[in-house]
Amino acid sequence: MDLKNKIILITGAGSGLGKALAVAAGQAGAKVICAGRRKERIQQTADEVIKAGGVGTAVQMDVTDPKSVEKGVKEAEKTGSIEILINNAGIITGLKAVQELPIEEWDKIMATNVRGPYLLIRAILPGMIQRGVGRIVNISAPIKHLPKASAYCASKCALDSLTKAVGYELKGVDVIINAVEPPFLDTEMHKGGKRPEEVVGQILELAALESGSQSGRIVKIT
Ligand SMILES: NC(=O)c1ccc[n+]([C@@H]2O[C@H](COP(=O)([O-])OP(=O)(O)OC[C@H]3O[C@@H](n4cnc5c(N)ncnc54)[C@H](OP(=O)(O)O)[C@@H]3O)[C@@H](O)[C@H]2O)c1
Repeated sequence: MDLKNKIILITGAGSGLGKALAVAAGQAGAKVICAGRRKERIQQTADEVIKAGGVGTAVQMDVTDPKSVEKGVKEAEKTGSIEILINNAGIITGLKAVQELPIEEWDKIMATNVRGPYLLIRAILPGMIQRGVGRIVNISAPIKHLPKASAYCASKCALDSLTKAVGYELKGVDVIINAVEPPFLDTEMHKGGKRPEEVVGQILELAALESGSQSGRIVKIT
């Protein structure tokens, strides 16, 4: 599947991996909806998408908030029906043993990393099913059992489970959902590792899978 003129919504597009994915999709000629909370950051990404040769639009959205997601998706759909969704927005907080982890911090991580993708899928999937085609990529992580990162690990395991379960639900429909485990990346979240630009090609391949490709996979990115 070619990304040219495809309408793709990327959450967390104002920085790091999300921004690199948006610009690379722009280079491939896609129409990219850049979602995130910081208006100036998503607008900057949208401008770079346009410079790269695509169509870029910034849509402010807090992925943890159902009303904000609903409003943001409605605004995004002014560009057209969303054909590809990349659930990239995610957070991690400082390393803490589980007994020292404040409840509010646990809730915030789960709300961003799991509830967010669920809310986006819930808002966008019905249209994909109705049109009989769609691609969803969830950005997971290879970290699943790291001490002092219990909430982040639990959230990414939950995201993998969500991906697999929805993959089964979509059996027989040309809506393909997969998750990826990128390596350590040098972003606002983590210092050191690969540049996000080095891995975006492998991730966008999953956003552009041909009909009949396998769904519900957790794919390691190298
Ligand atoms: N960096 C790594 O080593 C690494 C490795 C594997 C996987 N990952 C995963 O890759 C994804 C991207 O992370 P990154 O490394 O690129 O970090 P990042 O630069 O911090 O990007 C995260 C993005 O998520 C957005 N975001 C956070 N909370 C949000 C909310 N409630 N609503 C909407 N957007 C929200 C942030 O923008 P706003 O604050 O403006 O909303 C930010 O642009 C995450 O899911 C992360 O878990 C990262």
